[in-house]
Amino acid sequence: MSGNLSVAIVGATGAVGQEFVRLLAERRFPVGRLKLLASRRSAGKTVEFQGRPHTIEELTDDSFQDVELALFSAGASISRKFAPLAAEAGATVVDNSSAFRMTPGIPLVVPEVNPEALEGVELGNGGIIANPNCSTIIMIVPVTPIHRAVRVRRIVVSTYQAASGAGAAAMAELEQQTREVLAGRSPTCEIFRQQYAFNLFSHDSGIGPDGYNTEEMKMVRESHKIWGDSSVAITATCVRVPVMRAHAESINLELEEALDADQARSLLANAHGVSILDDRTGNRFPTPLDASGRDDVFVGRIRADISRSGKNGVHGLDLFVCGDQIRKGAALNAVQIAERLVGDRTRRSARRVEVSLSR
Ligand code: A2P
Repeated sequence: MSGNLSVAIVGATGAVGQEFVRLLAERRFPVGRLKLLASRRSAGKTVEFQGRPHTIEELTDDSFQDVELALFSAGASISRKFAPLAAEAGATVVDNSSAFRMTPGIPLVVPEVNPEALEGVELGNGGIIANPNCSTIIMIVPVTPIHRAVRVRRIVVSTYQAASGAGAAAMAELEQQTREVLAGRSPTCEIFRQQYAFNLFSHDSGIGPDGYNTEEMKMVRESHKIWGDSSVAITATCVRVPVMRAHAESINLELEEALDADQARSLLANAHGVSILDDRTGNRFPTPLDASGRDDVFVGRIRADISRSGKNGVHGLDLFVCGDQIRKGAALNAVQIAERLVGDRTRRSARRVEVSLSR
């Protein structure tokens, strides 16, 4: 195996796929060969990577010969069909869809939270790793340091989710609708069933018999799997807002032990992947625009919950967070997983060299 990897991106023309291309270049990921895969509609188009045009190929059963790492973001049905083929061909798959997240034995990983779930995974040996849902990642990155310090008993989260979570076509529709509404025309509704510009609505995923939509249940179940602890009670309300690419979340935590705002702020100040923007005097807190194009989850409105704190021994904390859905919510998290695997591989080969030298 060479130092540089043979990498494939599945869904290379999509919002997350394009971010994969940008991130691999920006973070100097050791790419030897890059294969860009999408539907037949896109085959033959070119995408720039490291200053050179790369031609998009149609995704087929044979796309994964000699691929060591495959980054998937083309939706769950494509992942269900092609990720196992890629893994059989020897590629390690990091899958951004929901297809395998809850499958027992498949690691569901946020590198800042549960990197240990990657133990035993070797690049280029086949195998699938799931990237969590964007809203889950953006919540769990700042909540984990608090959970580890004082244990979270219950989370009540409300999301304000951007168009990007529904893909590039949804972002284009938001832009188009905005123009149409401003021009006094009726908005085109092809991706979403109702007007999105100058409006907001309950998340467009399916609703179950209990009244929760799929997005809300992903936040509950995936957080439990990532933490390996399903005793934390979680309830979520997920809403789409007419924002382009960063999600916001209002998070209320019930805590086992007291934690005041200053203590929470200092825990978060030391947490990986978190930036604090919490200026009470200036009334300046995280916005989706602050988080757009940035790696960290931004946290503000850090305050003890006055409805809880101290009363009957129950403690509470409120946070308002914003994170880039395309980056940390999807492509960046997947690339960080791949970077960990590259690091592990480098450490393994260094150990092999040491062992052979000591013989
Ligand atoms: P294409 O642009 O050729 O349709 P997004 O999440 O932004 O909507 O992007 C979805 C990605 O999934 C795009 O790159 C899209 O490619 C890709 N995709 C959709 N359907 C298929 C398919 N049948 N085979 C391969 N790629 C697909």
